[in-house]
Amino acid sequence: MISFRRSRLLAVTLPGLLLLAACGSNQTAEQTSTPTASAPADSASTKSAAMPTSASFGKTTDGTEVQLFTLANANGVKATITNYGGTLTSLLVPDKDGKMGDVILGFDNVSGYQSPEFVKAGPYFGALIGRYGNRIKGGKFTLEGKEYTLAKNNGPNSLHGGLKGFDKVVWQAEPGTGADGQSLKLTYVSKDGEEGYPGTLTVAVVYTLTNDNALKIDYTATTDKATVLNLTNHAYFNLNHGAGKDVLNHEVTLPADRYTVVDATLIPTGELRPVKGTAFDFTTPHAIGERIGQVPGGYDHNWVLNTATGEHAAATVYDPATGRTLEVTTDQPGIQFYTGNFLDGTLKGKGGTVYGKHAGFCLETQHFPDSPNQPKFPSTELKPGETYHTVSTYKFGVRK
Ligand code: GLA
Repeated sequence: MISFRRSRLLAVTLPGLLLLAACGSNQTAEQTSTPTASAPADSASTKSAAMPTSASFGKTTDGTEVQLFTLANANGVKATITNYGGTLTSLLVPDKDGKMGDVILGFDNVSGYQSPEFVKAGPYFGALIGRYGNRIKGGKFTLEGKEYTLAKNNGPNSLHGGLKGFDKVVWQAEPGTGADGQSLKLTYVSKDGEEGYPGTLTVAVVYTLTNDNALKIDYTATTDKATVLNLTNHAYFNLNHGAGKDVLNHEVTLPADRYTVVDATLIPTGELRPVKGTAFDFTTPHAIGERIGQVPGGYDHNWVLNTATGEHAAATVYDPATGRTLEVTTDQPGIQFYTGNFLDGTLKGKGGTVYGKHAGFCLETQHFPDSPNQPKFPSTELKPGETYHTVSTYKFGVRK
């Protein structure tokens, strides 16, 4: 099944594509000073709306200055995103008493995301993941008769794009504002052969903080050679982050009757197994901690969403302590529900918070892991002339 949605794309992405053409290596001062060239900001009603603010997020280890952009809405909700790795570093949302709190694991400056301990542990806090979210078996796949070899950065497999995935590159950033809310458009051109993947890939990701307290992530990409692609975001949520506790009390619902069974190296065997009667059944709400002991290592699996195309529900989370809720929607067929099993307390984040086991959970909307080697899984192939387009939304609320 091909799930790249071509028909909707042209209208939505044409302005972006034109802009991308302008955003190549020869960018001029004029181009950088007209950040609202994309469609929504041009309407008269939105011209005066405030733009996201930006501040320095420090210098990368190779001396590049990176920025931290703050997107805000009228309800006081704020999201901060850096163009290093396109990383979501914080998200302030209200609890049931209206108290604002940050629900994202991360660091105060770019050095946190580049420290040797962080890179070694590889938790990918808040980052954009590409070219391929999750694992590719043996770091190899064959496309149109040609075998491609990727770096094996996770035991025998390739994980999250390789040694220097999209989480470790500096994206070009373009703040904007429109009827939907404040936005940040990030673009990156990945060279043909980068990390072993074929084709020059031109990627644009737009984060929008909407007025109904949702963070929308819109991904588009085009290629000049057949390639594979599976973009996602690796935010770790803890709806009670400030308390410095784990997320085992959070209640999760996943509208998925099946999940992809994995081998010892977390590569799908190809079996889509029913969740019914198992610790993987989140079709009704269950606390994360209720049955996690029955899953060796903890949850780190891809759930096969009951609806695979069109915008559909992907997950709901409720934290009884704060009343905060999170609803995830996507147009993707799968979601990786990962419960921070590899966090071990060696990383200290914002405000000195120690990130121990299960300090956060991830809900990575995606195609299934290792799809390039699994002909029965929905295809992740992208061909020249096609536009990859996917949207996922993380909406916050409260339950009293
Ligand atoms: C994904 C993987 C996990 C782990 C995390 C990052 O969720 O499935 O096994 O690698 O990323 O630490």
